[in-house]
Amino acid sequence: MSADDQKRRSAERALDFVEEGMKLGLGTGSTAEHLVRALAEKVAKGLNVVCVPTSDRTAALATELGISLTTLSDTPHLDLTIDGADEFDAQLRLVKGGGGALLREKIVATASDRMIVITDASKQVETLGAFPLPVEVIPFGCRTTEAKIETVAAKLGCKGVIERRGDEYGEPFLTDSENFIYDCKFGKIPDADALAEALNLIPGVVDNGLFIGIATVAIVGTEDGTHLVEPK
Ligand code: A5P
Repeated sequence: MSADDQKRRSAERALDFVEEGMKLGLGTGSTAEHLVRALAEKVAKGLNVVCVPTSDRTAALATELGISLTTLSDTPHLDLTIDGADEFDAQLRLVKGGGGALLREKIVATASDRMIVITDASKQVETLGAFPLPVEVIPFGCRTTEAKIETVAAKLGCKGVIERRGDEYGEPFLTDSENFIYDCKFGKIPDADALAEALNLIPGVVDNGLFIGIATVAIVGTEDGTHLVEPK
């Protein structure tokens, strides 16, 4: 079974946690896309939910499939967010932002009573950091900010190439909030809690892709079905 089939499995299982009348956060990425498609089928059969998307592309897909959308301005508190992840560990600390949507994803997840992570089995790691950590940075003064990221990370035992993300045309990738993303190839992050806090204290850093203490459960799609991982 392919990783994509495992993603679809976990997304479909997540629908067991969705109840009539819920206010939902909808994630971004290929796993979240499976979720949006499966949710749309339930909506078409009469399920009544209202959703806040975490990116313009999730908003476009949900709208196309007939899912009712709202905003955090109109609906500041949500029942549940369901989203993918690039990596997670046994404490259910996540690296997110591979799709560049980490800022809205974190805002929406923390506006929710619960966050369910949907993933294939390859995303669970012992130590975070194999997946490059995305850091969202305001364009103004970005070289200064990049140098500060390097210094702060090195003090916490994280060394490696830090690269500004490009788009398919060779231009800098811009997030939905028109910021840059720096992908930090640390390999291993020895103290993810400290790094998450330290990065966000740097002027110019908007947020980073470490989600600590936010996810309540992960639904992992496997060859045999799905299993749940709760934080240790
Ligand atoms: C989007 O910015 C990310 O946080 C995604 O949730 C993450 O990259 C997972 O993506 P896939 O579901 O495509 O693996």
